[in-house]
Amino acid sequence: MTYVTAVSMKILMVCLGNICRSPMAEGIMREKLKDLYPGSIIDSAGTGGWHAGENPDRRAVKNMNDHGIDISKLVARQFHPKDFENFDLILAMDESNYEDILKISNNEEQNNKVKLILSYMPGQKTLSVPDPWYGGPEGFEHVFHLLNDALDKVILKHFKDAGR
Ligand code: 4NP
Repeated sequence: MTYVTAVSMKILMVCLGNICRSPMAEGIMREKLKDLYPGSIIDSAGTGGWHAGENPDRRAVKNMNDHGIDISKLVARQFHPKDFENFDLILAMDESNYEDILKISNNEEQNNKVKLILSYMPGQKTLSVPDPWYGGPEGFEHVFHLLNDALDKVILKHFKDAGR
């Protein structure tokens, strides 16, 4: 059988450190798209560079492992202005990441690529995915479910034939 990719997109997930929320979002999205839309490119970055070169936080790795997704080999990097050219969609994990990315965008076209990931889920009390860095495993579990639900909505909105 010939498999035809309906659409492919280049999506960048962005948080502060690139060791908790955005690598989790990257892993979840890769898993969701790998069979349906294998041509898509998913990556993640942090607005801050303190953790560049590190693998994701072990608590994030453990939580994702519990959900059958391995993110242990991902490597953190800092967001770069070139990312505006290299990606179609830039999904910010919280409002502060969103503002920081917009501060370094150069034009309307770049601004339009940046969205808050929770803006895809109407009726949310907050538009920010809480930072699980200071908390326990339940924080990571909460983040996993928020991201999992939001990314289903991202697929419904942006991918051709999604949800049929
Ligand atoms: P993330 O979480 O932005 O979801 O990767 C954080 C990780 C580390 C720090 C802050 C947030 N930090 O301050 O080192």
